[in-house]
Amino acid sequence: MLIRNDRDGFLLPASSEITPQHIYQGRRELIRLMATGVAGAAMASLALRDARAQAARPGKLAALAGTRSAVAGAVVIDKLTDYKDASTYNNFYEFGTDKADPARNAHSLKTTPWTVEVEGLVKKPARYTLEDLLKLSPQEERIYRLRCVEGWSMVIPWVGYSMAELIRKVEPLGSAKYVEFITQADPKTMPFVGSRVLEWPYVEGLRLDEAMHPLTLLAFGMYGEVLPNQNGAPVRLVVPWKYGFKSGKSLVKIRFTDTEPRTAWNKAAAQEYGFYSNVNPNVDHPRWSQATERRIGEDGLFAKKRKTLMFNGYEAQVGQLYAGMDLKKFY
Ligand code: MTE
Repeated sequence: MLIRNDRDGFLLPASSEITPQHIYQGRRELIRLMATGVAGAAMASLALRDARAQAARPGKLAALAGTRSAVAGAVVIDKLTDYKDASTYNNFYEFGTDKADPARNAHSLKTTPWTVEVEGLVKKPARYTLEDLLKLSPQEERIYRLRCVEGWSMVIPWVGYSMAELIRKVEPLGSAKYVEFITQADPKTMPFVGSRVLEWPYVEGLRLDEAMHPLTLLAFGMYGEVLPNQNGAPVRLVVPWKYGFKSGKSLVKIRFTDTEPRTAWNKAAAQEYGFYSNVNPNVDHPRWSQATERRIGEDGLFAKKRKTLMFNGYEAQVGQLYAGMDLKKFY
């Protein structure tokens, strides 16, 4: 996260700058409709069709389809980020600190067998195999906008179900106020575990009500397939109104606590990465503004930056969770 590379500096053109033909044709159709004055509803349905067309599985990994989610805010009507960008440009420091390292190195991650332990302040602690987790609730597809603290964003069709489904099964005690998410840290299969860049394992945390929010997703797949290793296989968290680093990858333990967990980035640089880390264009990172973002796939020399939206555009769904809080203090 502290590291910049060529693409952050707009030095390299991305392959995704070349508009695929079906999208180009979709835009022409839209322009024609606008000219004939029937653009309103057509615009939404075309955009959705564009998004769906690209959500077809890329055919690399095992299929994992989800039904369309009924959760409010689960579908962002934006062009999807290309699978190639979403799976080759990201952070997973257990495999290196360059954006290309996870895709290059994560083949060594061993995802079977996999278990997730649920412990702490719950009535029913449990040890779930991945298979148990997959059966716990029906898989849904959710198209979420994700915004990284470094200033880039993507739109990804995830497959999974609300974290709340799992939380309800284990019955948190009245004293449980927070949930800690602990991720895999195996130096044998993760070459950068042991490096001093972060404290291992990578840990994230949410308040219990944030973890229970229907938008908080326990994800097993993306683009209709199981997660590629570099995106957090076999199971990860996705919290779309928070900066990307709140979404812990390759989860092995979920612990319910009565105290606020110390998270990996908070331990590394507390003045820069707070516990909440809600996307907020009005609160700058101490070293850069958070007011705008660069959408991956739109990063040509002349591409305009987008305005970052409060809570990443999910204010209507999650704003109430923070009513009355000073978001400058609780950043
Ligand atoms: N999870 C683990 N275990 N290790 C990491 O280094 N990086 C975080 C988050 N989850 C990270 C992690 C950061 S900084 C980001 S921006 C997101 O994963 C990016 O991953 P994605 O683009 O695949 O969602």
